[in-house]
Amino acid sequence: MTHASISRAFWSGAVLALFACGGDAPATDDGSAGSIDADGLTAVELEQGIGPVRDLELGAIDPALVAEGETLFTTKCSACHKIEERYVAPALGDVLARRRPEFVMNMMLNANEMVLEHPTIQELLAEFYTPMPVQITERAQARAILEYLRSVQTDPSADASGA
Ligand code: HEC
Repeated sequence: MTHASISRAFWSGAVLALFACGGDAPATDDGSAGSIDADGLTAVELEQGIGPVRDLELGAIDPALVAEGETLFTTKCSACHKIEERYVAPALGDVLARRRPEFVMNMMLNANEMVLEHPTIQELLAEFYTPMPVQITERAQARAILEYLRSVQTDPSADASGA
């Protein structure tokens, strides 16, 4: 993607956000799940990302799922992401210290919309200049990669529990 089309992507996101704020904002604005913020997203979307995954309950780490996720990570993610260091894209060894597990799965399953509309991802796009493509369409595969990422978190404060 060229810089010009990236900036078009930014602007269309900004215009969408403006429209989303106008007129039909819900009556409640108490920070609850239904309220819409300045970016046109709900508090839940800001925290858990835009996409199909909500309110995960994660148990103990499952080694079989980690192994499956590691293979998928190598084929689908490692061209851009490393665990320990920044590369084409942010390092993911501490991603669960800064993002919810739902956010991480929604990024895999719905990267296009996240890039266009989520302010956190738009900040990263401005830094990395590469819009992340959707790599995974099956939720089960995204879940396996999340399990792998949980197993390699280097920051002890990582909220890998999903609680
Ligand atoms: C073509 C390169 C590319 C591939 C392949 C890719 N990503 Fe990304 N990813 C990015 C970039 C670049 C960003 C920063 C946001 C942006 O610019 O779109 C990002 C952002 C993310 C984020 C948010 C990081 C944060 O700090 O919030 C997560 C999570 C993520 N990617 C996970 C994955 C996973 C898991 C895979 C494999 C299924 C994957 N990505 C495949 C390029 C890629």
